[in-house]
Amino acid sequence: SEQKLWGGRFTGKTDPLMELYNASLPYDQKMWAVDLEGTRVYTSALKNINLINEKELSEIHRGLKVIGQEWETNSFVEKPGDEDIHTANERRLGEIIGKEIAGKVHTGRSRNDQVATDMRLYVREKIVKVLRPALIQLIQSLVMRARSEIDVLMPGYTHLQRAQPIRWSHWLSMHATFLANDLDRLNQLLVRVNQSPLGAGALAGHPYGIDREFIAENLEFDGVIGNSLAAVSDRDFVIEMMFWGSLISNHLAKFSEDLIIYSTAEFGFIKLADAYSTGSSLMPQKKNPDSLELLRGKSGRTLGQLVGFMVSSKATPSSYNKDLQEDKEPLFDNMTTIEHSLLIAAGVISTLEINAEKMKGALTMDMLATDLADYLVRKGVPFRETHHISGEAVAYAENNKLSGIDQIPLDAYKKIDSRFEEDVSKVFDFDASVERRTATGGTAKSAVLKQLDNIEAKLNF
Ligand code: ARG
Repeated sequence: SEQKLWGGRFTGKTDPLMELYNASLPYDQKMWAVDLEGTRVYTSALKNINLINEKELSEIHRGLKVIGQEWETNSFVEKPGDEDIHTANERRLGEIIGKEIAGKVHTGRSRNDQVATDMRLYVREKIVKVLRPALIQLIQSLVMRARSEIDVLMPGYTHLQRAQPIRWSHWLSMHATFLANDLDRLNQLLVRVNQSPLGAGALAGHPYGIDREFIAENLEFDGVIGNSLAAVSDRDFVIEMMFWGSLISNHLAKFSEDLIIYSTAEFGFIKLADAYSTGSSLMPQKKNPDSLELLRGKSGRTLGQLVGFMVSSKATPSSYNKDLQEDKEPLFDNMTTIEHSLLIAAGVISTLEINAEKMKGALTMDMLATDLADYLVRKGVPFRETHHISGEAVAYAENNKLSGIDQIPLDAYKKIDSRFEEDVSKVFDFDASVERRTATGGTAKSAVLKQLDNIEAKLNF
């Protein structure tokens, strides 16, 4: 226990399995850069209150740079007793600049405010540099495709039963709409991530009156967490991040589920690129949509991570408890999973081929039964009545073995309801049907293009 930073009061050795069980270095070393950055700014703040002098500060900053280069070039050597990234970096600093000066770095600081700071800086960086750009790229892929294939019609479904004709672009725009909301949510939670715990000490605050606002500003935080107990123990940002990951996973799972169905031979609406498909080891003819099945399957993983950590943290006593170390593995995996899912989804959507004939071919005249009812509404008949009349037309076509309501002769229509006239034939046109829905959010070309404009406007900030 001699090499341990906290070894002073200990005489007995740590059980070897306990060492492993306790250590977070294997998974928290990826925070090395933000850990060094936090220490860089923290020590500047210590200098401002004369706990270290100018010369000591420049030695510390020099040492931190060396450590950074070691991590970057994969030459940082871990030693027994390096429990986590914080102890490892501090131990190494002592070796480089001498324990005399390095021993001052942790004055007034605890690993409790330190780890909370590192986590927030790390999550912020992942959001800004990785997750947000990947999400924007996916939304852009959907929007681009929607613009270029705006004239393609397909069946819209409810209960997976043919319902009404829509544009393929309308379907794309729906997924872009959900994802644009995910982008909003990400920007909103970023504000809560970006609050500074540093200077809160172990739990009770800083005994030397450190300038926490100075620290926050220099670490580019938006503000300071206003209570030291909250500062060290608040992992709501971890939970929010994993909730975000779970919700976007659900969106990607629905997206995938639709495409899996559309890619079956029975539908034949789309064909996945080889780049995102795999074969069968037994059946030579198979081309399986594994990319989409994995995207769909990941939703269980990300939700499990959210639930797991919420349960771990729900009843811990106030301030820091080691249970909180359980935040890292699920969070890091959650963020990486979403990063990869976003990139895969963007790859899938920008490379798949559509079969516009198959899509249009799946449209059937019964899907215009609502339009037939609307035809009479336009002649002043109450909708409830027209709904019934249109239903009679559907039944007539069925009973007389006609291929659709468009095949019913005009005199038969007139027998069903005298208000049917010659122009009823105009109803039986799928393009006209989608073009009638010009109100905001509808299937008309103008309405879909408007949706795409609005979504794209959200991508610039
Ligand atoms: N590795 C620890 C964690 O991730 C750092 C904080 C340890 N603090 C403590 N008082 N033992 O949570």
